[in-house]
Amino acid sequence: MTASTKLETPYQNHIDKADFDHVYEPAEDSFLLIDALEKDLQYLKAKNPTFCLEVGSGSGVVITAFGMVFPNTFCVSTDINWKACEMSISTAKYNKVLLEPVNMDLVNFFVDNKFDVIIFNPPYVVTESQECGGKDITASWAGGIKGREITDRLLHMIPKKLAEDGTFYLLLIQDNIPNEVIEIMRMHGFKSELVIRRIVRNEHQLVLKFYK
Ligand SMILES: C[S@@+](CC[C@H](N)C(=O)[O-])C[C@H]1O[C@@H](n2cnc3c(N)ncnc32)[C@H](O)[C@@H]1O
Repeated sequence: MTASTKLETPYQNHIDKADFDHVYEPAEDSFLLIDALEKDLQYLKAKNPTFCLEVGSGSGVVITAFGMVFPNTFCVSTDINWKACEMSISTAKYNKVLLEPVNMDLVNFFVDNKFDVIIFNPPYVVTESQECGGKDITASWAGGIKGREITDRLLHMIPKKLAEDGTFYLLLIQDNIPNEVIEIMRMHGFKSELVIRRIVRNEHQLVLKFYK
């Protein structure tokens, strides 16, 4: 375990800018999630996580930042967009992080695995339902009703995929009605805490954490 109290922003210059036509380019929300993990670093270090999963890893900057400070944690990522999986593995490699990326819907094909940490920056923009559920760049942002159609599906999977003393970090915007998310997770037996919030060009972004 490193003695670092910071999460470093991973090196990204290896990425061809044109590839961001197909994969979500790291933006303020990505960096707010990294800041949230940094803010919670002492808590996470005390947990000494064995398995960490980022759902929807996109370019891979978030899971790579995590892996850089937790070199002994086995890091896994999923993304519905296979080009994102390719970018995630290259970002991890360039930053000397071991990552196992899997091209899949949310966490559907992990049968017996339980993760100590699960991280998700979902497609959160409020859109028509029909726009949501693609496998290309639209999957980066199109969130359907309340911007929550993808997120809500994951919420109901968390109890089976998170270890008993695990922690789930979720980025939301105010339009997603975070109080409803908190209530859904409470029904599943989880406590919640606001880790960090920021206003970005009138968009209220926040990161919540859930644990038992
Ligand atoms: C807002 S982007 C976040 C990307 C990256 N985590 C970041 O913070 O920069 C959302 C990501 O979720 C992925 N995604 C959307 N629906 C998904 C699903 N059903 N299963 C897995 N990944 C999904 C998208 O392809 C996209 O890479």
